[in-house]
Amino acid sequence: MTDEKAFADVLNHYRHRIIEEREWLESLPPEQRMGHRDRILLEVGEEAANLLVDLIVGAGAKTIVELGTSFGYSTLFLANAAKRTGGKVYTYELAAEKQAYAKERLAEAGLADLVDWRLGDAVALLEGQPGPVDFVFIDLWKDLYIPCFETLYPRLADGAIVVADNMLFPEQSLPDAVAYRAAVRAKPDMEAVLLDIGNGLDIGCKIKSP
Ligand SMILES: C[S@@+](CC[C@H](N)C(=O)[O-])C[C@H]1O[C@@H](n2cnc3c(N)ncnc32)[C@H](O)[C@@H]1O
Repeated sequence: MTDEKAFADVLNHYRHRIIEEREWLESLPPEQRMGHRDRILLEVGEEAANLLVDLIVGAGAKTIVELGTSFGYSTLFLANAAKRTGGKVYTYELAAEKQAYAKERLAEAGLADLVDWRLGDAVALLEGQPGPVDFVFIDLWKDLYIPCFETLYPRLADGAIVVADNMLFPEQSLPDAVAYRAAVRAKPDMEAVLLDIGNGLDIGCKIKSP
């Protein structure tokens, strides 16, 4: 099987799962849906995932950090980008069963060896993250964006890109999203822009030293 075919097969697996999850969630009363958040992908979406790939490949980012592996949907894209830059993905997840599922899918895509799988609380584990870090994708529980950003900030390479998901949706995340964007913009050497792509992406860049 070619690398492209293996990637496409795994992506199609996720696409089918997304459709099944949507149908199942829509069959539930709205007040019950949040109670099942650990059973569903909570994926970033294909348009946003493709933008992450473009940013990584365009920047030639090699040390890539993902906060919130979930079931590995976004990790699939990040690892595929890492293959093109000769890089590596460090991905953090709290739930062992989600990480195990993600590892299986990435192995099927021939990409698992490009990933350093980290299990546990990202806020604590990030203290051991090797730097300099070229690219960060923040997509874990929303109240943890600021502590994760603050821990990673000293490890960012010049020109590093920091992308945060859920800046515009869901509505209950908006207070955390606003606070996160303010924290990024408070750094004198960070520039950032908010994009209405997927659930809303904040794209921050650490300005290169002169
Ligand atoms: C929105 S989902 C990630 C979706 C994934 N990035 C994707 O696009 O496919 C958020 C994930 O962060 C994980 N998470 C929440 N708090 C965490 C923490 N403190 N450390 C590590 N992972 C955490 C959750 O278990 C959940 O799987």
